[in-house]
Amino acid sequence: MAKVIAVNGSPRYQGNTYVMLNIILEKLKKYGHQVELINIANKKINGCVACYKCADRKNKKCAIENDMINECIEKLTQSDAIILGSPTYFADVTSDMKAFIDRCGFVCRANGDLLKRKLGAAVVSVRRGGAIHTFDTLNHFFTIAQMIVVGSCYWNIGIGRAPGDVVNDSEGIATMETLAENINWLLDKISN
Ligand SMILES: Cc1cc2nc3c(=O)[nH]c(=O)nc-3n(C[C@H](O)[C@H](O)[C@H](O)COP(=O)(O)O)c2cc1C
Repeated sequence: MAKVIAVNGSPRYQGNTYVMLNIILEKLKKYGHQVELINIANKKINGCVACYKCADRKNKKCAIENDMINECIEKLTQSDAIILGSPTYFADVTSDMKAFIDRCGFVCRANGDLLKRKLGAAVVSVRRGGAIHTFDTLNHFFTIAQMIVVGSCYWNIGIGRAPGDVVNDSEGIATMETLAENINWLLDKISN
């Protein structure tokens, strides 16, 4: 049994990003994995302040201690697979997801690539345009961290505007189902 963490960067707790992440997690749960969804939006996450204390101290912690980032870093380091989900905001991730990427990414990197060889997958919701750029931003987090990126039968995007609209995007939903199958397949392979 592997541990899978999904991070939702949408300020809508039950919006389209949540729907897609939930489809993946539910399927992975059925395969027998331990799953957890973390909502980071609306939690007042600071951006990185470039203090470089994480690089000096090398204690696997961010020096900003008054938000949830250190708790997130601990959960990420204990997981086997990490799924980052974000809506498309002006053709990129939400500001909360960007703060998460900068802070978690820098601390993990400063401490010898703490997420090395874990699996990573990006999930993006979008109304119309900019999803691929958002997808790329999320994948940059995985690929500089020496993580293994898992793909699906299309880029991992789902289309919708109002919360829940994405259920009408049958190709998007099928993409999430296939992504879950591929994550499970790889988790099984690397557990041996
Ligand atoms: C501030 C803001 C910026 C947005 N920018 C874009 C955009 O660049 N392209 C697009 O297609 N949709 C854009 N949208 C729409 C969202 O990406 C879309 O509604 C998405 O499904 C929301 O996902 P969620 O329900 O998980 O929050 C934007 C929405 C907001 C609130």
